[in-house]
Amino acid sequence: MNGADNRNNTTGGLIVYSSKTGNTRKLAEGIHRGLTEALGAVRIATVEENPDPTGADWLLVGFWADQGNADQKALNYLKSLEGCRIGLFGTMGAYPDSEHARDIRKGVQDLVGEKNTVLGCFLCQGKIDPALTERFKSLPADNPHAMTPERMERHLEAAKHPDEKDLEAAVTACLSMVKTVSSVLSGVAS
Ligand SMILES: Cc1cc2nc3c(=O)[nH]c(=O)nc-3n(C[C@H](O)[C@H](O)[C@H](O)COP(=O)(O)O)c2cc1C
Repeated sequence: MNGADNRNNTTGGLIVYSSKTGNTRKLAEGIHRGLTEALGAVRIATVEENPDPTGADWLLVGFWADQGNADQKALNYLKSLEGCRIGLFGTMGAYPDSEHARDIRKGVQDLVGEKNTVLGCFLCQGKIDPALTERFKSLPADNPHAMTPERMERHLEAAKHPDEKDLEAAVTACLSMVKTVSSVLSGVAS
């Protein structure tokens, strides 16, 4: 958490993220840098800090994919929000254009959308915990999660992410989510 940014909140935006092995933290910090450069100071916090969203014009909430859903800590935080404008970002082992990614995106957006306005959802790959890769490798071939050459290729590709391109794409995506709110707010003000 960057204490200085939290004291000097000029945009009313809040980035909150959950991360177990650091991928989503890296993405969140890249988004924070990009948005701070473009918009001025933006607050950033972890889900463990459970930041109060009161007064925030928008939130960007980051999660990691866990067993076909957003991770539990991110879900718990998201479930506590009501009447907020929320953009989502996340990292996952699967390819972001896969059916699995589509299902996760839909699940989390539907949940958030029950009580909030969803601004969008950016996903990219994140390196998979090597212990998990080893566990898959040890499964018998007839197990539905057994390692295959395609899965191994995906794990190896995931190991390169999030990379600089992911960070750039995330900043672009998050800026456009947030700018929809800015235009709503300036429309109200004028
Ligand atoms: C227990 C566990 C479950 C996971 N489940 C999924 C999953 O269902 N789908 C997926 O695409 N990736 C899954 N992954 C991969 C993580 O989502 C991915 O590595 C992510 O970038 C981790 O983010 P973090 O470093 O911020 O914790 C799983 C990883 C672990 C350790």
